[in-house]
Amino acid sequence: MLAPWPAPGIAALERGYAEHCGVADAVVVPAVRSAILLLLRAALPAGGLAIGPAFTCLVVHEAMLASGMRTKFLEPEPKRFTPTATAIRAAAEPGCALVLSELYGIELDENFLRSLDDLSPALRILDSAMGIPRAERLREMRPTDVALVSFGMGKSQCAGGGGVALFADSALAARVRGARDAMLAESAAPSLLKSDLKFLAGLALRSRALVKHARTLRANIAPVPAPLASGTPGAASAPGAQRTWLSPEWTYQLSRAQRRLVARNLANAVRSAKLRREQAEVYLRCLAPLRITPGVDERSLPQSHFPIRVPAESRAALRASLRAQGFETGDEFPISGALRERDYPLALATSQEIVTLPLGEHVSTREIERLCGIIAAALRQIPMKVGSGSAQTAL
Ligand SMILES: Cc1ncc(COP(=O)(O)O)c(C=O)c1O
Repeated sequence: MLAPWPAPGIAALERGYAEHCGVADAVVVPAVRSAILLLLRAALPAGGLAIGPAFTCLVVHEAMLASGMRTKFLEPEPKRFTPTATAIRAAAEPGCALVLSELYGIELDENFLRSLDDLSPALRILDSAMGIPRAERLREMRPTDVALVSFGMGKSQCAGGGGVALFADSALAARVRGARDAMLAESAAPSLLKSDLKFLAGLALRSRALVKHARTLRANIAPVPAPLASGTPGAASAPGAQRTWLSPEWTYQLSRAQRRLVARNLANAVRSAKLRREQAEVYLRCLAPLRITPGVDERSLPQSHFPIRVPAESRAALRASLRAQGFETGDEFPISGALRERDYPLALATSQEIVTLPLGEHVSTREIERLCGIIAAALRQIPMKVGSGSAQTAL
């Protein structure tokens, strides 16, 4: 059993994850984005095809492009988050790689995954960056499956950075471990103290006391840099551009304090997943009658954030009224710079309508019920204020 004291080394964390998840091997990675990049390069020949979702975290696209493979991004099913099996089958070719993102930790349905089995991809990435790994599920992985979990900020298994790749095939794990070591050796030595301080500042800005002021503080302390898509630092993003420069998040190394936190998170994983499931059920019960919960049901519950969809023109006002009452919300995920917007109307609409609500240890059931009450009241007011008609008809 993995203990947080003394701080476990990387090899001990990897053994702990592999054991907990009942998989052949685990590799600690700088981030899920880096794992996607390393996996595609390890499993595909040069010029191979990588297929992924259009609606996902934009760094997934950056990783796919950085791998140098050919890419195809698929629209989500209307009012859901992921592409259909039919769309994936139409795009696939023998020996391709599938990147399947589990948005907000909503596990992909087992029947959906089974329906893709006969495609025999060279690699299938179960991108569960936002989720909590579950042994019952991971034991079912096919040899070409690799599941990814992030330890980055805002994730269910947050330790301030890093992540883990879970393998059914030890030979592939060994190759990715070697490629990870080479990637870390090439990067500048990390400032572990700086990364700990950044992590603590990030946690403080998410705290109840500071949440109302977080935007101003963040802008003053560290202005958000423009997303980088390609070339040298600061290069403008262009749809489809290949990224050749990797910023520090791609080569992140866990500090001693963070390795302790990873071990603690793993020890709490089952409890945390149960808590988040119960919280998601409360959201669903309160918000489903408002018809703002497409893509979520009792069998597909999120773990990191609870996503709702509201008319795009109402979103800012709704988020502002929640912020004024001390609830910070998110808008994951903005449309990725890798896509030409007009080619992806469904991903674009999703990115403009989504609001993500808090889940996890820092929010109580009572607060969730209060938050749902504020949303219901706000949606009765906001559409009239912005003159866009009723939320109910727009949804
Ligand atoms: C589905 C998904 N994949 C990948 C990532 C990126 O994870 P990381 O920050 O560890 O690279 C995220 C981050 O939000 C995500 O939601």
